[in-house]
Amino acid sequence: MAAQKVEHYEIATYGSLTQFVKTLGKTDLADLMVQTLEEEKEAAQLLTSIAENNNVKVTVE
Ligand SMILES: [Fe+2]
Repeated sequence: MAAQKVEHYEIATYGSLTQFVKTLGKTDLADLMVQTLEEEKEAAQLLTSIAENNNVKVTVE
């Protein structure tokens, strides 16, 4: 859950940075921000997949 929270924070950050650099007219930087944003989304999806596939066993006593 902690890792998922980090990924979502990064997604919000790179989404905002994408718009900031577009506003500044820095299209080369916008492309880099979009690429990084997509990588963060992929990481979040991987973590979701791990959680959904029960790769972590939890025991409640
Ligand atoms: Fe990340």
